[in-house]
Amino acid sequence: MSEPVIKCENVYKIFGANAQKMLQDSNGNVDAKTFQENGCIVGVNNASFEVSKGEMLVVMGLSGSGKSTLLRCISRLTDATGGKIFIEGQDLLKLNNKDLIELRRNKMGMVFQSFALLPHKTVVENIAFPLQIKGVKTEDSISKAMDMVKLVGLDGRENYFPRELSGGQQQRVGIARSLAVEPDIWFLDEPFSALDPLIRKEMQDEFLRLQEKLQKTIMFITHDFDEALKLADRIAIMKDGIIEQLDTPANIVLNPATEYVRKFTEEVPREKVLLIEDVMDISKDNLGNLKVSKDEIIENVAEKILTQDKSVAVVDNNNKIIGSINPNKIINTVFGGRKNSN
Ligand SMILES: Nc1ncnc2c1ncn2[C@@H]1O[C@H](COP(=O)(O)OP(=O)(O)OP(=O)(O)O)[C@@H](O)[C@H]1O
Ligand SMILES: [Mg+2]
Repeated sequence: MSEPVIKCENVYKIFGANAQKMLQDSNGNVDAKTFQENGCIVGVNNASFEVSKGEMLVVMGLSGSGKSTLLRCISRLTDATGGKIFIEGQDLLKLNNKDLIELRRNKMGMVFQSFALLPHKTVVENIAFPLQIKGVKTEDSISKAMDMVKLVGLDGRENYFPRELSGGQQQRVGIARSLAVEPDIWFLDEPFSALDPLIRKEMQDEFLRLQEKLQKTIMFITHDFDEALKLADRIAIMKDGIIEQLDTPANIVLNPATEYVRKFTEEVPREKVLLIEDVMDISKDNLGNLKVSKDEIIENVAEKILTQDKSVAVVDNNNKIIGSINPNKIINTVFGGRKNSN
C-alpha cells in the first residue's frame, strides 16, 4: 500500500495561555470541561487518521466542533499543540518556514468560506495571481487561468470584476484560483456554504466531475450531512474537538457509533446512500432470474427488485453470484429502522 498523503497522529489543538502545560499534565486525556475551567478551549482533541491519495475525506460536525481548527493545523496556518502531522511522509511540524511556504505554494490548495477575491482584478487576473506569485510568466499564467475559467464554467465572464458576479460565480473563481496552481492536496472549508440550494447542488455536481478528472487528495468541510454523503469517500464526524466516527457514508448510516452521529443519520434517505452490497444476504438459495450488481445504489434498482416475488441474485464485477436480496429487505431498508416510522 502506498503511503498516506495526510497522516495525523494524536493531534491536539488547545487555545489558551496554559495550553501546552495542561496538555502535558493531562497525559493526553483531555476533558474539555476541565480545560475550560482552567481557561483553555479545546479545538481539536486527539485526532488520528489518514487520507490516502485521491481520496476525499469530508469533515463534518456542528458549529464549533473543531472542523476549521483541524484543517488549519494540517495546513499549518496554526500550530498543533500536540501530536504529529505528516504530509506525504514529511513531518509538518519540523518544516522550516521556507519549506513550509514551498509546500503551501506547490502542493496545497485552500479554499475558504469567504472567497477573498481581489476586487480590482478581473476574474482571469484573480485566477492567474497565485501563479504569478510563484514566478510564472504573465502570458503563461493568463493562459493557464483561462483553462481554469473554462473548467469551472465561467468562460465569457473572464473579464468581469468580482462585484459583477453572483455569489456562486465568485465562489467558482475562488475554486478556479486554487486549482490553477494544481495542488495535490486540497483543503476546502465550507466552500459552498454561501450558496443557495440550487447553485449549491450545481457546484457539488461540478465538483464531483472535477474530482473524477483530477483525483486530488481532499479534505472538505461542511456542516451539511447531505453534502457530506454526496461527496465523501469517507466522513469524519466531529464533536467538541473529537472525531466521533470516521467511516464510509454507508457504514455511518448503517452503524452510527454514537448518539450524536445517529442524530445526523436520522433523516437520511437510506436508499440514496446504501449499496446493494451493504444490505444483501449471503444466502444464494431460491433465486429468481433477475441479477443486480453489488455496486448499485439501492434507489436505482429498488423498483426492479420490488416487482420480483423471489430473491434477486447479487453479482460481483465478474458476474459471479455472491449473495441475494429479497424484496422485503428493500422495503425494510427504505422504510424500517427510523424513528417515528409506522
Ligand atoms: N483562535 C482561537 N482562539 C480561541 N478559541 C478558538 C480559536 N479558534 C477557534 N477556537 C475555538 O475552537 C473551537 C472550534 O472552532 P472551529 O472554528 O474549529 O469550529 P468549526 O467546527 O469550524 O465551526 P463552524 O462550523 O462554526 O465553522 C470553538 O470552540 C472555537 O471557539
Ligand atoms: Mg469552521
